[in-house]
Amino acid sequence: MCTDSLHVCTVVQVPYLPSSKDQTVNVMKLLEGRSGRLADLGSGDGRLVFAASAAGFQSTGFEINSILVAYARSKACWTGVPSSQAVFVKKDFWKTDLSSYNNVTAFLAPGVMEVLGEKLLKELSDDALVIACRFPFPNWPQQSFAGFGLDQTFAYDISTVRSYLRSEAKTAVQ
Ligand SMILES: C[S@@+](CC[C@H](N)C(=O)[O-])C[C@H]1O[C@@H](n2cnc3c(N)ncnc32)[C@H](O)[C@@H]1O
Repeated sequence: MCTDSLHVCTVVQVPYLPSSKDQTVNVMKLLEGRSGRLADLGSGDGRLVFAASAAGFQSTGFEINSILVAYARSKACWTGVPSSQAVFVKKDFWKTDLSSYNNVTAFLAPGVMEVLGEKLLKELSDDALVIACRFPFPNWPQQSFAGFGLDQTFAYDISTVRSYLRSEAKTAVQ
């Protein structure tokens, strides 16, 4: 495994593939009872950001494809979603500090999940919840999941993940 996460992430291309309706519903199920700030990493046309903002989250979509960013911003405009609820930023999320978000969603690719996990563990606070769509984090214990097959989504409580990884590390040195 390459230890230079930025390097890994600039070579692994994550294509645009929109979340299905079922996948979006599954993400929202796992976010039930949560509130605050949400970041969607690679927000595409903004569908997860719009769903989250409709549920009351202050949502930000990070997206590197300018056409998708322009589309999502226009959609926010024509549907009357204010920037206090949904913002679309043309930015590489690997180069973004995510520490101010207590909810993070990611529908990316299997090859980036391990490195993404390392980044999130460095930046997120203990009360953060991370939702992975379709591709789970390889070494993280799931708190819960919703749906099945291609639409399955997985929730991870960062504090639980940290405790688990600490206890695994202890066991490994004994
Ligand atoms: C599988 S799509 C998911 C889109 C959206 N989140 C959804 O669920 O419908 C992944 C998106 O991530 C974007 N992306 C890939 N790498 C990125 C990066 N480093 N920073 C920001 N966006 C990125 C792609 O352009 C693509 O739109």
